Amino acid sequence: MLARRTLICSSWALVVGLGLLAGCSKPAGGGAASAGGGETIAVGAFLSLTGSDSTFGIDTQQGIELATEQTNAAGGVKGKKIKIVAEDDKSSPQEASIKVKQLIDRDHVVAVLGEVASSRSLAGGQVANTSHVPMITPSSTNVTVTQGKDWVFRACFTDDMQGQQAAVFAVTGQHRTKLAILYAAQDAYSSGLAQTFRDEAKRLGATIVADKGYQKGETNFTTYLEQIKAAAPELVFVPNYYNDMVQVARQAKTLGMSGASFLGGDGWDSEDLLKGAAAELEGSFFTNHYAPDVPWPNSQRFVADYRAKFHREPSSLAAQGYDAAKLLYDAMTRAPDLKPESIKNAIASTKGFQGATGTLSIDANHNAQKPLVVVRITGGKFTYFSTAGG
Ligand code: PHE
Repeated sequence: MLARRTLICSSWALVVGLGLLAGCSKPAGGGAASAGGGETIAVGAFLSLTGSDSTFGIDTQQGIELATEQTNAAGGVKGKKIKIVAEDDKSSPQEASIKVKQLIDRDHVVAVLGEVASSRSLAGGQVANTSHVPMITPSSTNVTVTQGKDWVFRACFTDDMQGQQAAVFAVTGQHRTKLAILYAAQDAYSSGLAQTFRDEAKRLGATIVADKGYQKGETNFTTYLEQIKAAAPELVFVPNYYNDMVQVARQAKTLGMSGASFLGGDGWDSEDLLKGAAAELEGSFFTNHYAPDVPWPNSQRFVADYRAKFHREPSSLAAQGYDAAKLLYDAMTRAPDLKPESIKNAIASTKGFQGATGTLSIDANHNAQKPLVVVRITGGKFTYFSTAGG
């Protein structure tokens, strides 16, 4: 592959002159060469491949890999193959900024995919935006991630919609009117989702009988849970990530709280939640982008392809990674050329895109308008329960 690439590059250099040689010699399959006519197009990805949220990054990378493999097998984009340059941000916002800068300055990617956690998409998005390189986050839902950033998009719904739908599900759907909230106070995703849920639940006539924000890094939630239990809520909304939730669920069980009394958000989606606390969370619900048994044709095709390649069930992270990459390639195909500005405009005009996680359109605020799924934890599995919004 490398030898062939060098050969192509040298003959190009002979034909079109030395100007292209610099671009051709880029080891990462260079976006500079690609934008000008090289063999591959470099697309960057920054993900939590290690660190506290590693399942988010690994699952998303697999989704991106499947989408890229399928697109390349079908001829690529504008006759060129896509090459993903993936960087590990180690689950840290500081690293996320550094990696996005590297992808842009060193690898000359034409666009960036990532991150999952809103805190890291906020950090990386700042860099992409000031560098004028389009970025699509597959699954960061915090409202501020795309706000005021011309170059940043998302392939998912926002927490305005998710928090609102979670409240509608709890109050209108499940008839629970005495509610409690437990969330990670300094985390953009968790506190933002808690806020929308709180506002909408109150608007619907519910009472918040306990409202507790914990500090990032805390592992003992017993005191909060005791206070929540004492307030006797009918449902406890916990919009955190799976790693914290495993501890919350186990400690709640010790206090005699039932798994069915919990409701979560998309941050619960991880194999590790089931491995760590499936029994403790039996009967609980969470809002999500997708479920493996969701009855949508595009999802079923994706699930079959993913299973065949990776021999496991895809998480919603994998499905979102797949959709974000396919959405980008679709925009690149429609764009008149592969200049960042042209790709950005093509992403912005996406309408009725058929994703594995539903049909989506990009709105004026660069957010995806699409449905949301309620998932139930039963028998140690994530099971589709209902669809809302979109
Ligand atoms: N929505 C979460 C965030 O914005 C990330 C996430 C998406 C986590 C999907 C799990 C599943 O931080």
